[in-house]
Amino acid sequence: MQIIRDMAALRQARRGLPGTLALVPTMGALHAGHLKLVEEARRRADRVAVSIFVNPLQFGAGEDLARYPRQEEADLAALDAAGVELVWLPAVGDLYPDGFATRISVAGVSDRWEGEARPGHFEGVATVVAKLLIAAAPDVAVFGEKDFQQLAVIRRLAADLALPVEIAGVPTVRDADGLALSSRNAYLSAEERGRAVALPAALGQARRDILSGWEVRAALAAARATLDEAGFGPVDYLALVDAATLDPLDAPRGEMRLIAAAKLGSTRLIDNLAV
Ligand code: PAF
Repeated sequence: MQIIRDMAALRQARRGLPGTLALVPTMGALHAGHLKLVEEARRRADRVAVSIFVNPLQFGAGEDLARYPRQEEADLAALDAAGVELVWLPAVGDLYPDGFATRISVAGVSDRWEGEARPGHFEGVATVVAKLLIAAAPDVAVFGEKDFQQLAVIRRLAADLALPVEIAGVPTVRDADGLALSSRNAYLSAEERGRAVALPAALGQARRDILSGWEVRAALAAARATLDEAGFGPVDYLALVDAATLDPLDAPRGEMRLIAAAKLGSTRLIDNLAV
């Protein structure tokens, strides 16, 4: 497995990789969900590259940039065991050299939900993902559906900039009790971890209610009550949305997704479910 830290070496390594390449962009602190992305990448291309970069541009003031889990040695061991050919660990100054002034903003699909709760977040994501895709020049890039709005933003970005890369989404990997795997689950105390399952449970309950004919508003209110009871708060959003535009729906229509973000103690969790 090649371990690359600077852009010039990446370009050279990329030229030396025969066949098609799949890139899995990550911020490290890898778990079974990331390894599922690697598996999908392996299915779709001859070679697999993974980037690990905790992107300061996508963290707002007061967010968890400083304490975001970093475990480079364990991540590299897991990727080596998974048969990854190349790992790229750019330095902040390599992606954002002095004077870096460009931001990529994806209007519309970025505006609501995470975009509203975390101003500037998607601009940071779109900017770094564009840089990663341009530099690594993969044939396919693989992202998790766990960050469902992020996936929609990246699809829009790739289409609008005509980037010659296919964007692939992979279903969320969950613990046995239903909690979506996330690097941020490490922030939960054991007691909070027990209650965190209320988030996927509330989404599942809303899905059942909507599919059995409840009004969307009533189903969302019942799901919110489940979160309140479990001690979540504040709930940033809990909504039924169009799966492509992320526009809110007040009645079932077309491809839909239930999405939610809420705090449990000091940890902010997000999740979503296809309906
Ligand atoms: O989902 C993530 O881990 C990050 O947002 C990404 C896509 C690697 C960009 O920093």
